Amino acid sequence: MKEKVRILEDKEKEANLGGGEARIKRQHDSGKHTARERIVELLDKDTFVELDKFVLHGCTDFGMEKKRILGDGVVTGYGKIEGRQVFVYAQDFTVFGGSLGLEQGKKICKIMDLALSTGAPIIGLNDSGGARIQEGVKSLGAYGEIFLRNVISSGVIPQISAIMGPCAGGAVYSPVMNDFTIMSKNTSYMFVTGPDVIKTVTHEEVSSEELGGAMVHNSVSGVAHFASEDDDDSIEIIKELLGFLPSNNMEDPPVIACDDPADRKETSLRGLIPDNPNKPYDILDVIRPIVDHSYFFEVQEHYAKNIVIGFARMNGQPVGVVGNQPKVLAGCLDIDASVKAARFVRFCDAFNIPLLTFVDVPGFLPGTSQEWGGIIRHGAKLLYAYCEATVPRITVITRKAYGGAYDVMSSKHIRGDVNLAYPTAEIAVMGPDGAVNIISRGEIAAADDPDTERIRLIEEYKKNFANPYRAASLGYIDEVIKPEDTRPRVIAALEMLNGKRQTLPPKKHGNIPL
Ligand code: HXC
Repeated sequence: MKEKVRILEDKEKEANLGGGEARIKRQHDSGKHTARERIVELLDKDTFVELDKFVLHGCTDFGMEKKRILGDGVVTGYGKIEGRQVFVYAQDFTVFGGSLGLEQGKKICKIMDLALSTGAPIIGLNDSGGARIQEGVKSLGAYGEIFLRNVISSGVIPQISAIMGPCAGGAVYSPVMNDFTIMSKNTSYMFVTGPDVIKTVTHEEVSSEELGGAMVHNSVSGVAHFASEDDDDSIEIIKELLGFLPSNNMEDPPVIACDDPADRKETSLRGLIPDNPNKPYDILDVIRPIVDHSYFFEVQEHYAKNIVIGFARMNGQPVGVVGNQPKVLAGCLDIDASVKAARFVRFCDAFNIPLLTFVDVPGFLPGTSQEWGGIIRHGAKLLYAYCEATVPRITVITRKAYGGAYDVMSSKHIRGDVNLAYPTAEIAVMGPDGAVNIISRGEIAAADDPDTERIRLIEEYKKNFANPYRAASLGYIDEVIKPEDTRPRVIAALEMLNGKRQTLPPKKHGNIPL
């Protein structure tokens, strides 16, 4: 017996070493942790249970039969984060560069299946040279099996990916079909075709970092949701994110005890919204003060900054927050902002997270680049996402809600549950200047002093239409509130909506304008 246990222990030691000490050192020298170190940091102490530790690849091409390493380049298993069950896989770059062959793929699929059937989040820590070249089409098949599971699990369990090294070629499609992607600055990159291929095909010269580094995907492409400082920071972001999420779509998100008073009036909001509708302010100065302990966990903070998305708690209840950002592009909806917010709204809806929407939107961004780029189709994504969202939905119009964008931003007409407005709200087809120029063109031209007449008509329009009371008189706004009452009102609405049940007609799936 003793001898047999010793054999087991030796095998475990061997597996724990992955590709060996030299490669581990190389990993450390490049500022990265090993797969096992990352898992230890991610999970609650001593909760990790590893599966398939002794799996070996079956490849015999290219002399691979002489190079077999226990575990085959990925560490997989389950454990707990803050006491909650999760499944995790971490690619081991010290073993064939973490490249994915048939057996590595099977290991990942095994825990994906377990995560789905037990209703627990799955977290992938990616650090891989992509398809294992020696295994050829078997690698491609393995990726395909993973992609399929990503899609089947989508909307059922949260899927989170951290990119902690290379992620190239078709390998990128698994992380991007996850709900959230975190990239470590300086050590991670993602691209479908790398710098060498680009040089050959388009003659462009670009480095991996410039092409697909963390900040590129966080600020330019919108592929990633978070840019972390390093591996440790990525792991903190994963933990924090999970704290807002239910384990699966059949559960509610975790409500925690809250010692921030629910009836707290936030006096800093008095006078925050400028009287001049053309003067910007920071929507975060509205969001932060009203949420629990002023803590707002922003998602995609570097991308499409004209809209803000993220998680917060209201009296301990997680909420997904969406807010037009007047200080960037005046808070206009453009292609990127629409797509960013639409995906977030759909995520929250899939996982029973109530939506709190702040509106200050002058409309859709004008211009040929937007029109030719398909703002009609992309803007419709956000409209579609809100229309199909059945979670509790609370909307606060702080200032402008003009035109189609008024409808889109979780208006009453598309099943906003509780729609509030500040006295500074202007709910209209368009702003006063534009409206007067169109409907009073003749009157202005015929006036003795056209400029004075225009100013008079604009003032008249402002008085009659640039306010929340027309909408309130029609029941499109449930209540006009003082800004300082936002927190108590939103919390009361969330409590009132706690039992909300709303369903869509049975269908295979809708046809969102992709
Ligand atoms: C097999 C691989 C590998 C791969 C790296 N290695 N990538 N082995 N298949 N795809 C091995 C190397 O041979 C080396 O083994 C070890 O991993 C570390 O690699 P290095 O090159 O020494 O490391 P580094 O200098 O840090 O460069 C890392 C790298 C580079 C940038 C990832 O290795 C690289 O460019 N690899 C190929 C990437 C690639 O083109 N993959 C295919 C993408 S297409 P030793 O034994 O020396 O330690 C794809 C399609 C997926 O993935 C399609 C899905 C549908």
